[in-house]
This record gives sequence, C-alpha cells and structure tokens, in this order.
Amino acid sequence: MVTAVAQRLASQRKEIDDTLAAFALSPTQLQEVKAKMRVELERGLKKDSHPTASVKMLPTYVYRTPDGTERGKYLALDLGGTNFRVLVVKIRTGMRNSVRMYNKIYAIPLEIMQGTGEELFDHIVQCISDFLDYMGMKNTRLPLGFTFSFPCNQTGIDKGDLVCWTKGFKATECEGYDVVDMLREAIKRRNEFDLDIVAIVNDTVGTMMTCAYEDPKCQIGLIAGTGSNVCYMEEMKNIEFVEGDEGQMCVNTEWGGFGANDNIEDIRTRYDREVDGGSLNPGKQRFEKMTSGMYLGEIVRRILIDLTKHGLLFRGRITERLKTKGIFETNDRLALLQVRSILQHLGLDSTCDDSIIVKEVCGAVSRRAAQLCGAGMAAVVDKIRENRGLDNLEITVGVDGTLYKLHPHFSTILKDTVRELAPNCKVDFILSEDGSGKGAALITAVGKNTYNIDYFFNSFTEKGDFIALDLGGSNFRILRVKVSHEKKQTVQMESQIYETPEDIIHGSGSRLFDHVAECLGDFMEKQKIKDKKLPIGFTFSFPCAHTKLDEAVLLTWTKRFKASGVEGMDVVKLLNKAIKKRGVNIMAVVNDTVGTMMTCGFDDQRCEVGIIIGTGTNACYMEELRHIDLVEGDEGRMCINTEWGAFGDDGTLEDIRTEFDREIDRGSPNPGKQLFEKMVSGMYMGELVRLILVKMAKEGLLFEGRITPELLTKGKIETKHVSAIEKSKEGLTKAEEILTRLGVEPSEDDCIAVQHVCAIVSFRSANLIAATLGAILTRLKDNKNTPRLRTTVGIDGSLYKIHLIPHPSVSARYARRLHKTVRRLVPESDVRFLLSESGSGKGAAMVTAWASRLADQTRQIAETLAEFRLTEEQLLEVKKRMRTEIQNGLSKNTQSTATVKMLPTYVRSTPDGTGERSTAIRCIFLKIGKQMTRILDMQ
Ligand code: BG6
Ligand code: BG6
Ligand code: GLC
Ligand code: GLC
Repeated sequence: MVTAVAQRLASQRKEIDDTLAAFALSPTQLQEVKAKMRVELERGLKKDSHPTASVKMLPTYVYRTPDGTERGKYLALDLGGTNFRVLVVKIRTGMRNSVRMYNKIYAIPLEIMQGTGEELFDHIVQCISDFLDYMGMKNTRLPLGFTFSFPCNQTGIDKGDLVCWTKGFKATECEGYDVVDMLREAIKRRNEFDLDIVAIVNDTVGTMMTCAYEDPKCQIGLIAGTGSNVCYMEEMKNIEFVEGDEGQMCVNTEWGGFGANDNIEDIRTRYDREVDGGSLNPGKQRFEKMTSGMYLGEIVRRILIDLTKHGLLFRGRITERLKTKGIFETNDRLALLQVRSILQHLGLDSTCDDSIIVKEVCGAVSRRAAQLCGAGMAAVVDKIRENRGLDNLEITVGVDGTLYKLHPHFSTILKDTVRELAPNCKVDFILSEDGSGKGAALITAVGKNTYNIDYFFNSFTEKGDFIALDLGGSNFRILRVKVSHEKKQTVQMESQIYETPEDIIHGSGSRLFDHVAECLGDFMEKQKIKDKKLPIGFTFSFPCAHTKLDEAVLLTWTKRFKASGVEGMDVVKLLNKAIKKRGVNIMAVVNDTVGTMMTCGFDDQRCEVGIIIGTGTNACYMEELRHIDLVEGDEGRMCINTEWGAFGDDGTLEDIRTEFDREIDRGSPNPGKQLFEKMVSGMYMGELVRLILVKMAKEGLLFEGRITPELLTKGKIETKHVSAIEKSKEGLTKAEEILTRLGVEPSEDDCIAVQHVCAIVSFRSANLIAATLGAILTRLKDNKNTPRLRTTVGIDGSLYKIHLIPHPSVSARYARRLHKTVRRLVPESDVRFLLSESGSGKGAAMVTAWASRLADQTRQIAETLAEFRLTEEQLLEVKKRMRTEIQNGLSKNTQSTATVKMLPTYVRSTPDGTGERSTAIRCIFLKIGKQMTRILDMQ
C-alpha cells in the first residue's frame, strides 16, 4: 500500500518534472538562442535580408542620448504598456535631476483597444483634452512627444507607420498608417486645442533616454513588461537602409518578433504554441509570447489545466475560472508572485502540495523568460562591443516594465544569464524610475531644435517672393529671392548694389531712409514688381534694441554712418514711413552677425556663433535664456548681439591701446566709442598703417625721412591696401605701387618694412578678435557644461574674406592666425570656422617665405611696433575682461554701464537643416516673422 502510494507520487512527480523540463534551457541552448538572435540582429540591419528578418531593427531617428543641455516644457503621451498616461514634463535648467513631471493615467477600454482606429485616437485626444483642462494648459501649444509602444516604420523623428499591432491592441484601419497623422487628425477633429507633435518614440527608446539622462553610459533600453523589446545605439554605417554613415542612431530591435522564421521552434513548447494560437496575432511575436508579462500567466494557466487534467493538481478539478482564457493575463501578473492568494482568487481549493507545484510552474515559466531575455541581451551587448572593436565593454541598460520591476527573481536571473553568455561585457542595469514619458520629452527637446527649422522649411516650401535689404556693411544691397516649386524647390536670387554717398549717410535720417526707399523703388521697377506687396527683411548692421523681430531702436550709429534723427528711433517705423506708398512690409530686422550665423547654420547645424570682421566688427551667439535678465523666460536660448565693437569704451583696454589707436579714435565720427572696433576692423586698419608709416618716416626709419602731403592725408591707405601688401608674393609689388602713389619713392627695404607693418597690424586684429571670440566660446562651453566644446562659427566681412580670395595661392594669413589663436586660447574645443559665402577660397595655401627675408627689418622697427605685439598674458587678460563685459552686459544691475551691450535679438534658435543662403533665411524670417515670435515665446 505504502509502496503503491510512493510509486504513484513518484510517477506524478516525474510527470510534473517532465512537463516542466521543457522549460529548463541548458547553457548550450541558451548559447544557441544568443547566436540566433545575433544572426537576426544582423539580418534586420542589412538591406537585402531586412524584409524577411524576424527582428526588424527599426530606425528611430534618435541620434544621441541626452547630454543634459535639453530644456523646455513638453507634453508626453505614453501608450502601449499597462497604463495609458498623459504627462507634462518640465526640464528646467538643463542640469540633471531637474525634471518635473505631472501625469494622469487614463483607462483604455478593451472595446476601444480593439475597435476602430478613429475611435482609439479620438479617445486618446479626449484624454489629452481632459488632462490639459486639469493642468489649465489648453491654450498653450506645447511640443508633444508620443511614446507609442508598437513597431513603427519611421522615416523621421515625427513620422511612423504602424507595422502591426502587438500585445492587446487590435484597432482597425491603423496598420500601415502614420500614427502621427492619425493623432493630428484626431486633434483637428476635436478642434479644441493644438499641439506640435515633434517626436514618436518607442517605449524602449523613451526608457533608454530617461535612464541615459542619469547615466551617460546607458545606451540600451529594455522593456520587460506587457511586451518585451530592446533598443540600442547602433552605428549608422551598419544600418544599411538608412542613408548616412556618420555617427549613431538608436535602433528599435522589436525583438519580440524573434522566431517568426521558425528558428526557435526547438525550444518552443506545446504550451507556447497554444498560447500563440489563442492570441490576437497568431504566429507573430513568438519570442515576446515566451518572455513577456502579457503571456506568462497564460502559459502557466495552460500548464496548470494540463496537470489538473492528469490529476496532478487540485484533485483533478478544473474550475470555470481556471478555464477562462486570460484570467492570469496582464492585470493578474501578480500570479507569478503570490501563488496562494492567486489560487484562492481562482476559487481553487488547493492543498499545500498544490501550492508548491503551482509555484514550481510559475518559477519554471518565469525563469525561462528571464533567461531568454538574458540570452537576447547578451547578443546585443556583444554586437555593440564588436561594433566598437573592444575586447571588453562597459555599458548600462535602462529597464522598465512590470515584469522586471515586480517579479522577485526575474532581474537576478536575467543579469546572471547576461554575465554567463557575454563574459566580456560588464553590463549594469538601471531601473527607469520615471517611465518612458520623460525620455520622450527629452527626445522632443532634442527634436525641438529641428522643430524651429522645420517650421522655417514648412513656410519655405510655399512659393514666395521676398525682398531683402542689407545696409551697414561696405555695400548697400537689395536682393530679391524667389522660391518656386516646380518639380523641386528652387531659389533664385538677384541682387543689386546701390551707392550710399557720404552726404547721405551723414545727412538727415529722413534723407537716408528716403534714399533707401528710392533705391528700393528702382529695384522693384527693374524687377517689375512695383505693384506687388512683398515682405521685406532688413539686415541693419548697427546696434539696435529689439523688443521683437520687427522693431529695432537704433542705439547709436557706428562705422561711417552718422545720419541725424535716427538714434533712439525705431528704424522699422522710419523705413516704413519712407516706403509706405510702395506697399511693402518690413517683417524682421536682423543684425549682420545674426544673418551670418543663420546662413552658416543652414549648412552646419552646429553653428551657434556669427561674427563679422569687415568694415566693423561684431559677434552674436546663442545664449541661455535663463542668463538673460532682460528677457523673460528661462527655457531655451536666444541669439545675443554682443556689439563687442564697444568693448573698452569704459577704459578697460587703455593699457593695450597705442598712440595710433587714440589718434584714429580722435579723428573718427564717434570719438570715445567703438574703441575695440577701431583697433581691429577694416574701416580703421588702413588708417592705422598710415599713421604708423608717418611716424616711422618722421623718425627717419622709412622713405629716408620723406613725408609727402598724400601720406599725411587721411584715408589714403585703405584696408584693402593693407591686405594686398600683406600678401607674400605680390605684396611687395603692391607696396611699391601704393607707396609710389603716395609720392614717397620707396626703396625695396621700405617696401619690405611696410609689408611688415601691415602684417603686424593685421595680426593684432586677428589676435584680439580671437581673444574676444575665445571669451564667447568659453562662455558657450560653460553654459553647456561640457568638457569639450564642438561648435561652428559663421564668419563674414571683407577683412576676413579678402585674405581668402581669390585663390588658394593667396595668403590666408589673417584667418589662419585667428583660428590658431582661438584654438590656443580655448584648448578644450573643436571650432569650425565657416565662411558665410561657401566656396570662396577655402583651403588657401600658406605662404611663409616672407618671414625670414624680413628678419632684419623686424629688429629695426620692433621698437615702434612693440606695442602691437600682444603677449599671451595680455590676450588672456583681454579675453578675461571681455568675459566680464559679457556678464555685465547680461546682468540687469550692470547692463546700463556695460560697454558690451549684449542686446537681445529675439532670435531663439539657429537653423539646423541644410540649405540656402542668408537672404533666403531672412526671407523665411519675413514670412513667419510675427508667428515665429509667438511660437517661440511659448517654448
Ligand atoms: C512604463 C513606461 O513605465 O513601462 C511605458 O512608461 C512602458 O512606456 C511600460 O510601455 C512597460 O511596462 P508595462 O509592464 O507597463 O508593459
Ligand atoms: C556682407 C553681409 O557679406 O558682409 C553684410 O551681407 C555684412 O550683411 C557685411 O554687413 C560685413 O562685411 P563688410 O566688410 O561689408 O563690412
Ligand atoms: C511590443 C511592441 C514593442 C514594445 C514592447 C514593449 O513588443 O511591439 O514596440 O516596445 O511591446 O512594450
Ligand atoms: C558695427 C555695428 C554692428 C555690426 C558690425 C559689423 O560694429 O555696430 O552692429 O554688426 O559693425 O558690421
């Protein structure tokens, strides 16, 4: 009798063990899973095999993890996990740990999950509407990041066609359609509020971003929840179906689909097949169905029924509840944890033995799930390690999902498996505390930079006809820009230069603007657009106080201009008054530095500084709004026109100003003002050289002491002469020609000496500009709190350009000196200098031979020129003072006395698409002028 019972128990035990043995994977089997997963990862990335790959490796258009510079206020939706959430995320100061979130969970009833697409999206929008009411934010047009946890074929950060529903969703008329469009349409249908959908994000990607915000080593996102999936940062060059080879992109593996090509049939059990057969998507997501929370309960239920049928459990009695499909599904995932209470909940009268067996079943199923995830993860980390050519890799995985979070052993088994199967990788797992909504907001923050330019482009895609005025540099130019859209977008530009005679720029303001209006009239007549009401963009290269884009009060004239009655006035009003009969409309005023930065920003997304080294000199750059006391708001950036030409107007540069600089200033239209500009810019450089030559001649160092009336005449040496003489090859001939014109009969030695003077004066200019630019770059670096600054400086201006054109054979000495000194003064930086006119003489040859030939003369005139040679300390000092001035100009208390005015420009973002030239950008400005200010104000 006893033996019979013992035998029966033993055979029952065996039956149970046999059933569960199918769930115990051997180390070899796990290795195989890893190897097969690796093959599928590769197949998913390759163009040829991608269509048939079971692991789809979908591009996400997320190119980097957050670097802490993100900020702003965003709305986020989080759809596809256990809960549907609407959130508002405020990333405040750009420092880590400075994110605040408010969220509300909404139910999505089953009939909506499986109803029509329109019903689903209407429901989502209804929840958003409720949330916006709740937050009192209905009237704010917020950027939205949409965590949508289903496979999407993305063609951009804000475009994604749903490949197929997974998990519990099955709404009709969605598969194959763009999810962003569907959401936009539903928002339109409701017609209650507006949102800018900036990004669509898989939950794995959102999770990776959330975690990477805390730990920069996090480059993988894992969800072990209702579904199962992984994303990671892949090398662009490996993603064959996405153009471009540079950098990285996050790939959403959709590994849940692993097994679709029957390659894991050997480890699937009949329970897995049953569960698959009874699911919403039979044959699909086979790996997911073995590893994720939505299905594990169902596998357990099927095993329990089986064991009960065989009389191994519950005294062979199958309750109605146990028969109910999905009774252990998603919401009862705790089934995997609290065996006894679950059994009671099922109405099962269990014995102690029953509990043990149920626990074993749960354990076997969840253990296998954790091991399979571990094997998949091992394949991913090894791939990353090999991508980077490393023997050992240290990496962090950001994880979310109820299964991982709530199951007592899942995470331990997962980690152990990864350790065993990928011994060369040290993998840390961090839990996403805040869900993927925060990550979606971070992606939106990154995307938002493209958002503004998208907006530009959107307006740009319309056909259009624009006028741009460019006043304040060496030429007054009027341009017409036509944008047409035949097959492809084309931009035509025509321009004309108009004279601005001395008597006009020194006469009355009304005359000056009448002149501008007349030239405009002439231009419009020639263009046959007299009757058209075209929008105008106005590059006005003088210091202006802006309160918006189309209002600019001239603070003070600089350079050659001195027309009366304009200082203190809004130049838009003055110009409008002059041209009012012409039916045109001034939409924006920009400083030339800003125009330059924008031009270059089109070619190079990193451009965030614009400088002019021309008639005058000046710089603008993107400053953090939170540092600009004069403008409300803390989030985002705004372009600041520094007006650095006025640096030193309070005496800070006295120690390095020479007697020649003082003399220049005394003879200028604006004595005591723009002292820095007068030391460095094109308008004054010729004069500086002339004054030095006069002094040297007087001292008998040049021209055998001959001083002619021409040499004594102001303006007889121009900056373009200085540049020409400075050139090594034809420079000496030029020197002779120019000096002969001045009547001084130069000897060869004289010419060599004069060439040296020119070189020294322009070197000082390049060095000083490098020092002030260095201050701005250091400021940017501090603002970004980054150990190494990578940025681009857009440059324009005749003084800088003249050294670069027309051929590479011509000396690029000025530019070279500028770049070199900047690099020396800001060593932790990679700065690209981008000429605003592309293709003009870049890569000019360096000619150095002249230096040695002049060694003797150098010594002779060294004394006179000593003051022009600034030491490293002096340059650092100038840089330091400029930094102080930047701060003074930005702070409320010191702004009024600061010499560097740091004027807000209300341009809050640089472009980061590729494209057209500054006029085009100005025109875009015009078109969107006011709307943009409104939109930017809301960010
Ligand atoms: C949440 C994330 O925390 O986890 C969601 O915010 C994600 O985006 C979810 O889908 C995954 O877990 P589960 O268990 O809810 O599917
Ligand atoms: C031009 C820009 O290329 O350069 C002007 O279009 C700018 O807006 C000018 O003022 C600056 O250089 P310069 O040498 O003409 O003063
Ligand atoms: C499913 C979805 C996938 C998502 C995962 C986790 O696998 O297809 O996109 O990431 O569930 O929620
Ligand atoms: C002068 C102007 C400034 C301009 C610069 C370059 O410094 O004040 O606004 O940007 O010249 O043209």
